[in-house]
Amino acid sequence: MHLYKTIADLRQAISSQRKNGLSIGLVPTMGALHAGHLSLIDASKTQNDLTVCSIFVNPTQFNNPDDLARYPHTLEADCALLEAAGCDLVFAPSVDEIYPTSPVLTFHFGELETVMEGAFRPGHFNGVGLVVSKLFNIVQPDRAYFGQKDLQQVAVVKRLVRDLGFPLELIRMPIVREEDGLAMSSRNRNLTPDERQQALELYRALSKAQEVLQTGGTIEAAKIAINEHFRAHPAFRLEYFEIANADTLQPVDQLQAPGTTALCIAAHLGKTRLIDNLIL
Ligand code: PAJ
Repeated sequence: MHLYKTIADLRQAISSQRKNGLSIGLVPTMGALHAGHLSLIDASKTQNDLTVCSIFVNPTQFNNPDDLARYPHTLEADCALLEAAGCDLVFAPSVDEIYPTSPVLTFHFGELETVMEGAFRPGHFNGVGLVVSKLFNIVQPDRAYFGQKDLQQVAVVKRLVRDLGFPLELIRMPIVREEDGLAMSSRNRNLTPDERQQALELYRALSKAQEVLQTGGTIEAAKIAINEHFRAHPAFRLEYFEIANADTLQPVDQLQAPGTTALCIAAHLGKTRLIDNLIL
């Protein structure tokens, strides 16, 4: 496995491989890797000759400076995990390498970002759009892998690929969870042991709402169940719970065809913001 820190070096390494006709899979990450990230690496390895993993804590997508300051940086451990997972190339650029000057381009994703993460994290998807399009241009992958954990991000990147005509296939991978159901996340490292115990209530709440809907309950009843759940767990500050179409992210007023209704939730626990979703 090779580690590259500059765009020029990475481009050179990839272009010689591409000339040999090898297919390339890209897994963009911000590091602090866990089994969720590694599931994307595995998928890329199965479907491509070469897998590139980028590790870059992208400042332009953080609307909260404390969140950026607290974001874990664990490059050495990440490289060890990637090496063991059989990743071929790692791209870990500096902020100056990606943003030599402050970007003037901005992305707007219309209705896709007026809800949920877009509404609560102004500018977040502009930052995601900037860095993902830059990574797509640098790596020019045949396939790019994103997790359902960030469902709205998948919708935004799908739109980016369509609108800018990136010649690649976008692949959405399922959420990898801890044994108790907590969705794996780099931010889980910031939870205190006590918060970590409580964190699974996010998944429990989603599961309750799922049960309400799957036993014929209304959207309203599912929302009431969520609110009741968090009244019993006051350590959480619920930011949103939405029942939306999994592709458009727009709210729905009843359960849609299987595989298209998404239950999405975000809540603060102590200083950590957690998100999760279930697709029914
Ligand atoms: P990051 O949060 O590091 O996540 C990298 C990728 O791993 C994303 O596609 C995310 O959805 C996926 N992922 C995270 N947790 C997962 C889990 N439990 N199961 C499955 N997949 C999971 O998302 C980002 O970084 C950034 O926004 C990025 C796309 C790299 C742009 O900066």
